[in-house]
Amino acid sequence: MTDAERTSLHVIILAAGQGTRMRSALPKVLHALAGRPLLQHVVETASRLNPAGIHVVHGHGGETVRTALSGASVTWVEQSEQLGTGHAVQQALPAIPDEALVLILYGDVPLVRADTMAELVAAVDDGPAVLTVNLPDPSGYGRIVRDEQGFVERIVEHKDAAPGELALHETNTGLLAAYAGRLRTWLQRCSNDNAQGEYYLTDVVALARGDGCRVRAARASDPAEVAGVNDRVQLQAAERAYQHRQAETLMRDGLALMDAGRFDLRGELSFGRDCSIDIGVVMEGRVVLGADVRIGAYTVLKDVVIDDGARIDCHCVLEQARVGRNARVGPYARLRPGAELQEDARAGNFVEIKQAVIGPGSKVNHLSYIGNAVLGGDVNVGAGTITCNYDGVAKHRTTIGDGAFIGSGTQLVAPVTVAPGSVLGAGTVLTRDTEADSLTITRAPQKSVPGWARRRR
Ligand code: UD1
Ligand code: CA
Repeated sequence: MTDAERTSLHVIILAAGQGTRMRSALPKVLHALAGRPLLQHVVETASRLNPAGIHVVHGHGGETVRTALSGASVTWVEQSEQLGTGHAVQQALPAIPDEALVLILYGDVPLVRADTMAELVAAVDDGPAVLTVNLPDPSGYGRIVRDEQGFVERIVEHKDAAPGELALHETNTGLLAAYAGRLRTWLQRCSNDNAQGEYYLTDVVALARGDGCRVRAARASDPAEVAGVNDRVQLQAAERAYQHRQAETLMRDGLALMDAGRFDLRGELSFGRDCSIDIGVVMEGRVVLGADVRIGAYTVLKDVVIDDGARIDCHCVLEQARVGRNARVGPYARLRPGAELQEDARAGNFVEIKQAVIGPGSKVNHLSYIGNAVLGGDVNVGAGTITCNYDGVAKHRTTIGDGAFIGSGTQLVAPVTVAPGSVLGAGTVLTRDTEADSLTITRAPQKSVPGWARRRR
């Protein structure tokens, strides 16, 4: 056996709890934090320690949990009855060699940093190491009882604690690390003779001490980092803590946020220099911003690419769209999947664009629907123009050549092509292709009948 194998790290993530306090049909660990399941956050952070294996102990809703995290390279372990945290760890141990170090995490404690996990692992001696935190209000948590030298003597659960122990403010976060072989033997000796009738993982501390082993503690400085999620109030608190931490990193990397407390990124964001984001912006999926991009207030971006110098005004919704250099969008515009604005193009207020390319310098400024269309460069689309792209059965394409001028209130009945330089009079219902540089009007000639209204009365 090599040294690497001797010290290999295995992570066990406990995720079998019911999560009844969420009052939800969804298993607790699948509730979203910044758009991803709680459990996925824990798996991702644990992966950064390059463990030899990640073992997830699931119970209730097991199938749903496995499906939701099917992309993760983890080993699934079922704990059919929740008999306690010690029992849960025992379900995963058979697959882990004695020599390995084991790090135990909770699927509902999503904000622990990889550095903190590594510190806990480094604190393992011949006895286990525990991660603790000082809480102003420690009620409900296991209390850390230390000896005169500062080693941990035992952990006493709130429900089993004597009045003197209840006064202790150093609490157990639940995270623990130990060598697998020793952990196995200590867990075999645990009993469920306690207030909750459960097999407590925390009992291994006193058992290790009884064997003459040293139990050290790593201490988390920020309670928010080790906070668990048991109900929707705590989920919201975790979301805010996560968003705050993420916003700080983004600002340090050069992103200008008008208000870090009113910015939500539920995915990944990359950005160039001097981008600025106004209040209330929500980003999801993968968002890519070039340099000098400005995003207006209350805009939602999902899986979009926005090139240098482009500006998205307030109250826009963009999904799977691309916005070219110096293009302008909004306010109140909606770019749906497949929308592409090329360089210097514009989509103004109350404009909806779907599966359509708006060529360089082209403008769709007011109250329009453009779908399944390709517009060349410098096209002017008048207010209230729509592509009639759907005949009730299939979608059809509209093509508009360079420099065409589409009068206000035009209906383009697809499939149809407007040749370059064509002019369509206002109110045209276009059903046939036009010729280059022609004028097309389909409007009925205006007729006025003098005195008609007076005679009618
Ligand atoms: C546990 C600790 C307590 C600590 C607290 C921190 C024990 C005995 N107590 O208490 O010292 O202060 O966490 O939040 O460990 N789980 C399973 N299977 C089970 C039981 C639990 O997978 O049979 C999972 C739960 O889903 C949860 C985690 O283990 O993610 C902790 O379980 P929970 O019941 O919340 O433990 P506490 O009683 O809060
Ligand atoms: Ca808990």
